[in-house]
Amino acid sequence: MEFIQDFMQSYANWFYLIGAVLFILTLRGLSGPKTAIAGNRYGMIAMAIAVVTTFFVADHPVVPMIIGAMVLGAVVGIARARTVPMTQMPETVALMHSLVGLAAVLIAIAAILHNNQLNLLFDSNEPALTAAGVEHAHMNKVHLFELFVGCFVGAITFTASVFAYGKLAAKKWAKTIKGGWVKPVQAIIFIAMLVSGFIFFSTGNMQAFWAMTVLALAFGWVWIAPVGGGDMPVVVSLLNSFSGWAAAGIGFTLENNMLIVAGSLVGSSGAILSYIMCKAMNRSIINVLFGGITAGAAVSGDAGEVKQRNYRSGSADDAGFLMSNADSVVIVPGYGMAQGRAQNAVKELANLLKEQGVTVRFAIHPVAGRMPGHMNVLLAEADVAYEDILEMDEINSDFPATDVVLVIGANDVVNPAAKDDPSSPIYGMPILEAHKARTIMVIKRSMATGYAGLDNDLFYNDKTMMIFGDAKKVVEDMTKAINGGGH
Ligand code: TAP
Repeated sequence: MEFIQDFMQSYANWFYLIGAVLFILTLRGLSGPKTAIAGNRYGMIAMAIAVVTTFFVADHPVVPMIIGAMVLGAVVGIARARTVPMTQMPETVALMHSLVGLAAVLIAIAAILHNNQLNLLFDSNEPALTAAGVEHAHMNKVHLFELFVGCFVGAITFTASVFAYGKLAAKKWAKTIKGGWVKPVQAIIFIAMLVSGFIFFSTGNMQAFWAMTVLALAFGWVWIAPVGGGDMPVVVSLLNSFSGWAAAGIGFTLENNMLIVAGSLVGSSGAILSYIMCKAMNRSIINVLFGGITAGAAVSGDAGEVKQRNYRSGSADDAGFLMSNADSVVIVPGYGMAQGRAQNAVKELANLLKEQGVTVRFAIHPVAGRMPGHMNVLLAEADVAYEDILEMDEINSDFPATDVVLVIGANDVVNPAAKDDPSSPIYGMPILEAHKARTIMVIKRSMATGYAGLDNDLFYNDKTMMIFGDAKKVVEDMTKAINGGGH
């Protein structure tokens, strides 16, 4: 046993290095649907290596307590993973980030209270080098700064993520706040937080530390509460990034290289994802976080009927007939396909059309649905071939030469106002240019608006046929019609 202990301690950094490389391979794997499963496996192996190694490098680990906490976490995590519907993934992810933030705060508090390390630091002229301090010689001002950063970033991440969870889950307590008072209050809390942190940093005053922590918790809430529902995905991804930086900060405190590397990977990949999403919405991150442009956006899709205008509606039979006579069909899935769990029915319809010689492809908007990659996940679940799935940039130029575009439960991502109407709140957001196709068919249950709460000119276009009903039912009816039609 002692041999293993010595071996693991001597080679801990090598194991961490292997873990870090595997984490990098994980991210690489997760960047494409074909390699995502392998990516997940690398991540699991890396995490196992990291956890096991840490048991050997930790000073006097309280093993039963740690194992107990891990088992408890695993039970809750597995239960949640098994039951969470795909549509609730974003809020679940937000909730998980909140726990990373909370863990960072608790570790910072524990590190500060542990063995009165602050006294060692502030009672001596040579911080952390007194006789009593030798054991904790790592506690110098640099570490104090890391603790301070880890704690306040963690505290902000915690409350901001809890709010993001509440907002995405449409909880009553997660109310968007508006008004002229919001920005000054944000500024006051932020400055007070920095001042308390500075006092703590320079004097070691514990009151200042508690004040900083409480103010950071408050800041997380007032910072995110004014952000509109439409921008929440970006916020969640940004908080993902924050939780990574908080973990990296704590990694410095605990002198754990693995935590520093893993935290930095999460921090930078979250930041890159936020950037990509902002680009997809044609917004800057500053505008998302402080602009409050879409503060009035609806939280949960169906924001009610809008004013009466003329539109054309048709039946699933008519639509099936038209599609089976087309040369090319592009399917644009959106949140409604997820909501109606229609992906398998959609795949069957696509297969049937292909059998009839129709070219069928899927067009994916980066923010279709309610989480990054939402549509890709659903189509992968239904076994749609990856080569049939095209990103917005790849497909947009093909729409004018497309016979039929079939929009299934998508709304905002095909709203032409984003291109044509400078007064629209989504003006500038890149869209799938479905309006350019020769014939447009839209499956949805009513004329209700989508997530952004905006009317959509596409539905009133002369080339558009609305097919009302639940996505799955309508698509199944289309398949039946084509089959029955014997084309
Ligand atoms: P939305 O604009 O939300 O439109 C979805 C449409 O689906 C609704 O208009 C709804 O109309 C219809 N629908 C709902 N359930 C249905 C069902 N069972 N059968 C048929 N239709 C159904 O969706 P989108 O076009 O995918 O755009 C996504 C929006 O969500 C964007 O505004 C985006 O910014 C935002 N958002 C995205 C994410 C990410 S990262 N993807 C995360 C959060 C928010 P009816 O009620 O009339 O059926």
